[in-house]
Amino acid sequence: MTDIFTIAIDGPAAAGKGTISKAIAARFGFAHLDTGLLYRAVGARVLAGADPIEAAKSLQAQDMERDDLRSAEVAQAASKVAVIAEVRAALVDFQRAFARRAGGAVLDGRDIGTVICPNAEVKLYVTASAEVRAGRRFKELTGKGEATSLETVLADVKARDARDMNRAEAPLKPAADAVVIDTSELSIEQALQIALTEISALK
Ligand code: CDP
Repeated sequence: MTDIFTIAIDGPAAAGKGTISKAIAARFGFAHLDTGLLYRAVGARVLAGADPIEAAKSLQAQDMERDDLRSAEVAQAASKVAVIAEVRAALVDFQRAFARRAGGAVLDGRDIGTVICPNAEVKLYVTASAEVRAGRRFKELTGKGEATSLETVLADVKARDARDMNRAEAPLKPAADAVVIDTSELSIEQALQIALTEISALK
C-alpha cells in the first residue's frame, strides 16, 4: 500500500514506547523511526568532544549504528543536547520526511504528536510510573552487562523526565488529542492490544 499514514507515539523514558512502536510497525508493515536514537547519536558525538549543533547538522546514518547508544551515559547526554533549540531544528526535516513516506510510518519520541507531526492520523502517549519504568530499564541495562543499581537508574529516569518535561523547546507532554496509555500495571501484550484497538478505530 502506498498510503501516507503517521502514527505518533510519545512518552517518558522506558515507558514501553519502543517495544509497542516496533510491534505496531511490524503489524501494519509501516516503517519505524526511533527518534530518541537521533538525540542519542548527537549526545554520543558530544561525549566524544563534538559541538552539539554541528553534530546535529552533520548527523550521518552511521552515527545511529554505534553500539553504545543505549547506555545510561549516552541517554543523559541525549537529554542535555535535546534542550538546545538549534539541535532540535536540525533534526526536524528528516523526521517529517520519514513520517510522510509512502506506505505508513510509526515515529516514537517526545514531541512527535505535539511538534513534528501535529497532524498525525494516530497519536498515542505511553507512560508509566517512574518506579515501574526504572525497574524495566534496570533489567534492560543489567541484561546487557551494564553495572548499575536500581537507585541510580531511578534517579537517572527522574532527572531525564524533569529535563524533558520542563524544557522551553518542545517539552514532553501529551498532545491535546493523544490517547494516553498508562502501562504501569499492564504487560507489553496488554498495552499493545490497547494501542492496536485505538489504531483500528482510526484507520
Ligand atoms: O529509550 P528512552 O525512552 O529512555 O529514551 P530515548 O527515546 O532514546 O530518548 C533519549 C533522550 O532524547 C530523551 O530523554 C529526550 O531528552 C531526547 N528526545 C527528545 O528530546 N525528543 C525526541 N523526539 C526523542 C528523544
